[in-house]
Amino acid sequence: MSDARKIGLEIFEAMPKQAPSVFRKDFWTGKVMEWSMRDEAFKLEMFRFVDVFPVLRTPEQVAGHLKEYFCRPEQDFPVWIRFGLESVSAGSLVARAAASQIERNIRGMAADFVAGEDAASALPKLIASRKAGIGFTVDLLGEATVSEEEADTYAARYADLIDTLADAAEAWRPVPALDDAPWGEVPRVNVSIKVSSLYSQLDPIDPDGSLAGVRARLLPLLQRARRRGVFVNLDMEQFALKELTLALFRSLVEDPELGGYPHLGVVLQAYLRSARDDARALCAWAKRGGHHITVRLVKGAYWDYETVHAQQQGWPIPVFQNKWESDASFEACAKILLDHYPNVRPAIASHNVRSIAAALAYAEEKGVPAAALEVQTLFGMADALKVAVQRRGVRVREYVPVGELVPGMAYLVRRLLENTSNEGFLRARFAGAADPETLLRDPAAGGRAATSDPTPESEFVNTPNTDFSVAARRESVAAAIGAVRGRLGGHVPLTIGPATVDTEARLERHNPARRSERIVTTAAATREHADQAIRAGYEAFPSWRDRPARERTAVIRRAGELIEARRDEL
Ligand code: 2OP
Repeated sequence: MSDARKIGLEIFEAMPKQAPSVFRKDFWTGKVMEWSMRDEAFKLEMFRFVDVFPVLRTPEQVAGHLKEYFCRPEQDFPVWIRFGLESVSAGSLVARAAASQIERNIRGMAADFVAGEDAASALPKLIASRKAGIGFTVDLLGEATVSEEEADTYAARYADLIDTLADAAEAWRPVPALDDAPWGEVPRVNVSIKVSSLYSQLDPIDPDGSLAGVRARLLPLLQRARRRGVFVNLDMEQFALKELTLALFRSLVEDPELGGYPHLGVVLQAYLRSARDDARALCAWAKRGGHHITVRLVKGAYWDYETVHAQQQGWPIPVFQNKWESDASFEACAKILLDHYPNVRPAIASHNVRSIAAALAYAEEKGVPAAALEVQTLFGMADALKVAVQRRGVRVREYVPVGELVPGMAYLVRRLLENTSNEGFLRARFAGAADPETLLRDPAAGGRAATSDPTPESEFVNTPNTDFSVAARRESVAAAIGAVRGRLGGHVPLTIGPATVDTEARLERHNPARRSERIVTTAAATREHADQAIRAGYEAFPSWRDRPARERTAVIRRAGELIEARRDEL
């Protein structure tokens, strides 16, 4: 028996047998999960409803939307969601009662995954977990801020979070399983930050400006964290922000103002095709610089978004399309991280027993002590797993979101997607009741057979927009702009039919982003010039129209090729 299987079976054995509450059918959330897994149409309507719910202001609006989403004749949705709404008007007493019940249920569902509205209200739960030997990393719900005021508010709330938790932690009794590691003390307070919450103009097209924007708010937070002995982890979000987040992290670790503070962490997402390369590069950098960093290894929470977004843009999909590939990548990345202990302190973040067992087995093989490892899980999920892992002497830390419902909706939806995913471990285990032997199979060995063929490409493919998160693309556009700049200052006459015509009067054309920069001068056409040009078009039209379609197509294609070849310059 392989070590990963042996450890996996031990973990299963040590898990309390109760299914997590989100899968229990006597809870509303459990019912929602069950129906979402059973019926795609229900799942879709549920997600649409959860998405719109926070902005509904009155019970009439709630009842009206419920009716629209869940009470259509062609659907056969369960009674508990319809509540007899079909037969009543949205303003009736029955509808109002149903709406307030649903509101309570949705808030209850959010409370399954969110510990409180702010640090103070979440504290009792954090303390209870700590007493049970489970650590935390607190995250403020909210991402992708859209104004600088909003980003300032987030920075202030993070500062408050650091202070409030650090103040409270002073009174906590030590919990050696959580507080002691081979390298010394582990901060009791651990905070996770999404960089997109700290700067409103984050844009991969401008890495330097984006880095400077985030740093301006993040550096003071890290200095505060360092003074208070608080651990800070940078979360990883969508693929477009990956390079930026990694660069930001490296620059902070190297920043003399933080003086080699060793309690900083970053995330690698194993579902990315680039994950293994990123893991190797990050580890090599840590080793070269003699840094000590924590790396949280996750599968990744934006799979649906990355897939749909890339398809919509016509870009290569950055995430693996087969679940087993992400699972195999996770195990490979865990090994890379463990190979670089003690420069790299691995935090294995997963609810998948096989993924965790594989990492723990490799740690044993490499002689990395259990107390150097961390397994991270999400608040409100996989509670039995936490208990079982803890018993092995491995630190368990929960990712605990704090905040209000509206900014928390994206987080909540990611948890619903995760819990109901066809291929998720939790669903297989708790809803599908798959047996441990099946769940502990090596993903790399079992997976290939289950690989689905990519969908065949259609014949016509639109030329995608430039993906500015790719450094090579940014550089080639910048080079083209540089080359064009060297040729500025010319004059452009009119072209009317085959003739070139110039005028006495001239127009100046300026760079709209830099008004002082003159691009060219052009001729200034009059009304007569315009009439001549339109006439020339009419006269030319029959000869174009009467050419065979194949020839016209070829001309258009050729034009497309010329545009494509000089695309950056254009
Ligand atoms: C998320 O926000 C847990 O960071 C992860 O989905």
